[in-house]
Amino acid sequence: MNLLKRRILQEGIALNQNVLKVDSFLNHQVDPKLMYEMGKAFKDYFENCGITKVVTIESSGIAPAVMTAIQMNIPMIILKKQKSKILSGEVYQKTVYSFTKNVDYELTLSKKYICKDDKVLIIDDFLAYGEAALGAISVIEQAGANVLGIGIVIEKSFQPGRKILEDKGYNIYSLAKISKLGEGIIEFVEE
Ligand code: G4P
Repeated sequence: MNLLKRRILQEGIALNQNVLKVDSFLNHQVDPKLMYEMGKAFKDYFENCGITKVVTIESSGIAPAVMTAIQMNIPMIILKKQKSKILSGEVYQKTVYSFTKNVDYELTLSKKYICKDDKVLIIDDFLAYGEAALGAISVIEQAGANVLGIGIVIEKSFQPGRKILEDKGYNIYSLAKISKLGEGIIEFVEE
Protein backbone atom coordinates (compact mmCIF):
# COMPACT_ATOMS: atom_id res chain seq x y z
CA MET A 1 0.00 0.00 0.00
CA ASN A 2 1.91 3.00 -1.29
CA LEU A 3 0.17 5.56 0.92
CA LEU A 4 1.28 3.65 4.01
CA LYS A 5 4.81 3.12 2.74
CA ARG A 6 5.17 6.85 2.14
CA ARG A 7 4.03 7.63 5.70
CA ILE A 8 6.46 5.10 7.09
CA LEU A 9 9.30 6.71 5.16
CA GLN A 10 8.24 10.25 6.13
CA GLU A 11 7.44 9.70 9.80
CA GLY A 12 8.74 6.30 10.87
CA ILE A 13 11.82 6.14 13.07
CA ALA A 14 13.94 3.01 13.02
CA LEU A 15 15.12 2.84 16.63
CA ASN A 16 17.53 0.01 15.86
CA GLN A 17 17.69 -3.08 13.60
CA ASN A 18 14.50 -4.50 15.11
CA VAL A 19 12.07 -1.77 16.10
CA LEU A 20 10.24 0.80 13.98
CA LYS A 21 8.50 3.64 15.80
CA VAL A 22 5.32 4.85 14.09
CA ASP A 23 3.71 6.74 16.97
CA SER A 24 2.59 9.66 14.82
CA PHE A 25 -0.05 7.75 12.84
CA LEU A 26 -0.52 4.23 14.27
CA ASN A 27 0.65 3.49 17.81
CA HIS A 28 -0.03 6.72 19.72
CA GLN A 29 -1.60 9.41 17.55
CA VAL A 30 -3.89 7.76 14.98
CA ASP A 31 -4.58 9.04 11.47
CA PRO A 32 -8.23 8.09 10.85
CA LYS A 33 -8.08 8.69 7.08
CA LEU A 34 -5.11 6.39 6.75
CA MET A 35 -6.91 3.82 8.93
CA TYR A 36 -9.92 4.10 6.62
CA GLU A 37 -7.75 3.40 3.56
CA MET A 38 -6.21 0.42 5.35
CA GLY A 39 -9.68 -0.92 6.13
CA LYS A 40 -10.55 -0.62 2.42
CA ALA A 41 -7.39 -2.46 1.40
CA PHE A 42 -8.10 -5.32 3.84
CA LYS A 43 -11.72 -5.50 2.68
CA ASP A 44 -10.70 -5.59 -0.98
CA TYR A 45 -8.31 -8.47 -0.34
CA PHE A 46 -10.50 -10.60 1.96
CA GLU A 47 -14.05 -9.74 0.84
CA ASN A 48 -14.77 -13.00 -1.00
CA CYS A 49 -13.53 -15.29 1.78
CA GLY A 50 -16.83 -15.54 3.68
CA ILE A 51 -15.47 -13.77 6.78
CA THR A 52 -18.03 -13.35 9.59
CA LYS A 53 -15.94 -11.55 12.25
CA VAL A 54 -12.86 -9.38 12.54
CA VAL A 55 -10.72 -10.11 15.60
CA THR A 56 -7.92 -7.88 16.86
CA ILE A 57 -5.66 -7.56 19.88
CA GLU A 58 -5.72 -4.47 22.04
CA SER A 59 -4.61 -1.78 21.61
CA SER A 60 -3.03 -0.69 18.32
CA GLY A 61 -4.88 -3.21 16.19
CA ILE A 62 -8.23 -1.68 17.09
CA ALA A 63 -8.21 1.28 14.68
CA PRO A 64 -7.42 -0.68 11.48
CA ALA A 65 -9.67 -3.53 12.64
CA VAL A 66 -12.73 -1.38 13.19
CA MET A 67 -12.25 0.26 9.78
CA THR A 68 -12.08 -3.17 8.19
CA ALA A 69 -15.14 -4.43 10.05
CA ILE A 70 -17.27 -1.42 9.16
CA GLN A 71 -16.46 -1.85 5.48
CA MET A 72 -17.13 -5.58 5.57
CA ASN A 73 -20.30 -4.92 7.59
CA ILE A 74 -19.45 -7.50 10.24
CA PRO A 75 -18.72 -7.33 14.01
CA MET A 76 -15.26 -6.79 15.48
CA ILE A 77 -13.92 -8.42 18.64
CA ILE A 78 -11.03 -7.09 20.74
CA LEU A 79 -8.94 -9.74 22.45
CA LYS A 80 -8.07 -8.50 25.93
CA LYS A 81 -4.60 -8.84 27.34
CA GLN A 82 -5.46 -9.10 31.02
CA LYS A 83 -6.29 -12.29 32.87
CA SER A 84 -10.06 -12.59 33.04
CA LYS A 85 -11.65 -11.63 36.34
CA ILE A 86 -14.74 -13.65 35.46
CA LEU A 87 -14.96 -17.42 35.76
CA SER A 88 -12.37 -19.08 33.55
CA GLY A 89 -15.13 -21.37 32.20
CA GLU A 90 -16.66 -18.38 30.42
CA VAL A 91 -13.57 -17.44 28.42
CA TYR A 92 -10.93 -18.89 26.13
CA GLN A 93 -7.42 -17.91 27.21
CA LYS A 94 -3.86 -18.30 25.96
CA THR A 95 -0.60 -17.04 27.44
CA VAL A 96 1.47 -15.14 24.87
CA TYR A 97 5.12 -14.14 25.15
CA SER A 98 6.19 -10.92 23.45
CA PHE A 99 9.80 -11.07 22.24
CA THR A 100 9.77 -7.37 21.40
CA LYS A 101 8.60 -6.31 24.85
CA ASN A 102 9.87 -9.31 26.85
CA VAL A 103 6.61 -9.80 28.75
CA ASP A 104 3.92 -12.44 29.03
CA TYR A 105 0.26 -11.59 28.74
CA GLU A 106 -2.99 -13.54 28.81
CA LEU A 107 -5.08 -13.23 25.63
CA THR A 108 -8.72 -13.54 26.57
CA LEU A 109 -11.86 -14.07 24.48
CA SER A 110 -15.32 -14.37 25.97
CA LYS A 111 -17.29 -17.41 24.80
CA LYS A 112 -20.27 -15.09 24.31
CA TYR A 113 -18.81 -13.44 21.22
CA ILE A 114 -17.61 -16.34 19.11
CA CYS A 115 -19.07 -19.62 17.90
CA LYS A 116 -17.85 -22.62 15.95
CA ASP A 117 -19.40 -21.35 12.71
CA ASP A 118 -17.41 -18.12 12.72
CA LYS A 119 -14.89 -17.47 9.95
CA VAL A 120 -12.41 -15.00 11.31
CA LEU A 121 -10.11 -12.36 9.89
CA ILE A 122 -7.39 -11.36 12.38
CA ILE A 123 -6.12 -7.78 12.01
CA ASP A 124 -3.06 -6.49 13.87
CA ASP A 125 -0.64 -3.58 13.64
CA PHE A 126 2.73 -5.40 13.54
CA LEU A 127 3.87 -8.88 12.61
CA ALA A 128 7.22 -9.66 14.19
CA TYR A 129 7.61 -13.10 15.77
CA GLY A 130 4.02 -14.16 15.18
CA GLU A 131 3.38 -14.87 18.85
CA ALA A 132 0.43 -12.50 19.10
CA ALA A 133 -1.18 -13.97 15.97
CA LEU A 134 -0.60 -17.53 17.21
CA GLY A 135 -2.21 -16.60 20.54
CA ALA A 136 -5.19 -15.10 18.72
CA ILE A 137 -5.47 -18.20 16.53
CA SER A 138 -5.40 -20.38 19.65
CA VAL A 139 -8.32 -18.68 21.39
CA ILE A 140 -10.35 -18.56 18.16
CA GLU A 141 -9.72 -22.24 17.43
CA GLN A 142 -10.52 -23.19 21.04
CA ALA A 143 -14.02 -21.97 20.13
CA GLY A 144 -14.05 -24.29 17.11
CA ALA A 145 -14.07 -21.29 14.75
CA ASN A 146 -11.79 -20.97 11.71
CA VAL A 147 -9.16 -18.35 10.94
CA LEU A 148 -9.46 -17.61 7.21
CA GLY A 149 -7.07 -14.68 7.03
CA ILE A 150 -4.56 -12.52 8.84
CA GLY A 151 -4.27 -8.85 7.87
CA ILE A 152 -1.18 -6.99 9.07
CA VAL A 153 -0.44 -3.28 8.80
CA ILE A 154 3.36 -3.53 9.04
CA GLU A 155 5.17 -6.81 8.59
CA LYS A 156 8.83 -7.03 9.54
CA SER A 157 9.68 -9.64 6.94
CA PHE A 158 13.18 -10.18 8.34
CA GLN A 159 11.65 -11.60 11.54
CA PRO A 160 10.15 -15.09 11.59
CA GLY A 161 6.42 -14.38 12.06
CA ARG A 162 5.28 -14.70 8.45
CA LYS A 163 7.09 -17.97 7.83
CA ILE A 164 5.77 -19.53 11.04
CA LEU A 165 2.18 -18.63 10.13
CA GLU A 166 2.54 -19.55 6.44
CA ASP A 167 3.99 -22.94 7.37
CA LYS A 168 0.79 -23.56 9.33
CA GLY A 169 -1.25 -22.72 6.23
CA TYR A 170 -2.61 -19.30 7.13
CA ASN A 171 -3.34 -16.66 4.47
CA ILE A 172 -1.47 -13.47 5.41
CA TYR A 173 -1.86 -10.09 3.73
CA SER A 174 0.45 -7.27 4.86
CA LEU A 175 0.03 -3.66 3.75
CA ALA A 176 3.74 -2.85 4.12
CA LYS A 177 6.57 -5.35 4.28
CA ILE A 178 9.86 -4.19 5.73
CA SER A 179 13.00 -5.99 4.66
CA LYS A 180 15.54 -4.03 6.69
CA LEU A 181 15.75 -1.60 9.59
CA GLY A 182 18.71 0.20 11.08
CA GLU A 183 19.56 3.66 12.36
CA GLY A 184 18.23 5.89 9.58
CA ILE A 185 17.44 2.87 7.38
CA ILE A 186 13.96 1.68 6.42
CA GLU A 187 13.74 -0.63 3.41
CA PHE A 188 10.76 -2.44 1.94
CA VAL A 189 10.49 -5.86 0.35
CA GLU A 190 10.49 -5.44 -3.46
CA GLU A 191 7.09 -6.47 -4.84
P1 G4P B 1 4.47 -10.64 17.56
O1 G4P B 1 3.23 -9.92 17.98
O2 G4P B 1 4.64 -10.76 16.09
O3 G4P B 1 4.65 -11.91 18.27
O4 G4P B 1 5.65 -9.76 18.04
P2 G4P B 1 5.97 -9.34 19.49
O5 G4P B 1 5.25 -10.19 20.46
O6 G4P B 1 7.42 -9.30 19.58
O7 G4P B 1 5.31 -7.89 19.54
C1 G4P B 1 4.81 -7.45 20.74
C2 G4P B 1 4.31 -6.05 20.69
O8 G4P B 1 5.30 -5.22 20.09
C3 G4P B 1 3.06 -5.82 19.91
O9 G4P B 1 2.41 -4.68 20.45
C4 G4P B 1 3.60 -5.44 18.55
O10 G4P B 1 2.65 -4.72 17.81
C5 G4P B 1 4.75 -4.58 18.96
N1 G4P B 1 5.81 -4.48 17.97
C6 G4P B 1 6.58 -5.47 17.46
N2 G4P B 1 7.50 -4.95 16.66
C7 G4P B 1 7.31 -3.61 16.65
C8 G4P B 1 7.96 -2.53 15.98
O11 G4P B 1 8.93 -2.69 15.23
N3 G4P B 1 7.46 -1.29 16.22
C9 G4P B 1 6.41 -1.06 17.04
N4 G4P B 1 5.99 0.20 17.17
N5 G4P B 1 5.77 -2.06 17.68
C10 G4P B 1 6.23 -3.31 17.48
P3 G4P B 1 1.54 -4.73 21.72
O12 G4P B 1 2.31 -5.13 22.92
O13 G4P B 1 0.40 -5.61 21.40
O14 G4P B 1 1.14 -3.25 21.96
P4 G4P B 1 0.02 -2.33 21.35
O15 G4P B 1 0.76 -1.23 20.69
O16 G4P B 1 -0.82 -3.08 20.37
O17 G4P B 1 -0.75 -1.95 22.53
